[in-house]
Amino acid sequence: MEPLGRLRLGVNIDHVATVRNARGSAYPDPVRAAKLAEEHGADGITAHLREDRRHISDDDIARLAEELTVPLNFEMAATDEMQAIALRHKPHAVCIVPEKREERTTEGGLEVARDENRLAHFIAPLADAGCRVSIFIAADRPQIEAAARIGAAVVELHTGAYCDFHAEGRFDERDAELARLRDMATLAHELGLEVHAGHGLTYDTVQPVAALPEVMELNIGHYLIGEAIFLGLGPAITEMRRLMDEARA
Ligand code: PXP
Repeated sequence: MEPLGRLRLGVNIDHVATVRNARGSAYPDPVRAAKLAEEHGADGITAHLREDRRHISDDDIARLAEELTVPLNFEMAATDEMQAIALRHKPHAVCIVPEKREERTTEGGLEVARDENRLAHFIAPLADAGCRVSIFIAADRPQIEAAARIGAAVVELHTGAYCDFHAEGRFDERDAELARLRDMATLAHELGLEVHAGHGLTYDTVQPVAALPEVMELNIGHYLIGEAIFLGLGPAITEMRRLMDEARA
């Protein structure tokens, strides 16, 4: 199957804010990083306002909503507080993620199948306000079917397990997870959902995911911000873009 279209790169700038917050300073500024990312070909900017505000702040979101020229993808937990913030700023997209206070990062996908009614009611006002609602889930059939039933426009498939298996040298399990991602991307597309993917992607792991024809957007953060230390943020993004385009061709 031919790719469904050009693959977009969403750059997640959360960990610029992590560095800033480590010292309680005003720098480095994630909004400055977002603008630099725009200049270097980011198709969108992703930022996750966590309940504990450990990286991105309310003010960062307000400034991103105000100042970006590319779409803002606002990652948030399904809480009343976050819904109110999203409705205030009306970002291009909202991505609903699970959130546990004690986790270091978003560890798993959202449990949609067991929380279908509540989530359907939760996302309806966001969709009515014009936000594209994306649901971050594992590559799991019941979750994808539930995401379609609640009226989500997009599913973002969690690539964390695939990347972890790769990093640990567990290549059979990595390949099995990639096959699941492939099958579930196909299923999601057949159900009318736009398919995105992300979490943990690196230069070593991005290409097989970028090659999945139904995947329309990758959201990548932690690795790019790390590479920016060595290459600079612009060149780090340019290299990711090059690898994505190579895989897509
Ligand atoms: N997509 C979603 C839904 C996420 O929660 C995250 C992490 O915030 C990412 C993509 C980016 O993951 P990473 O920072 O590991 O590239």
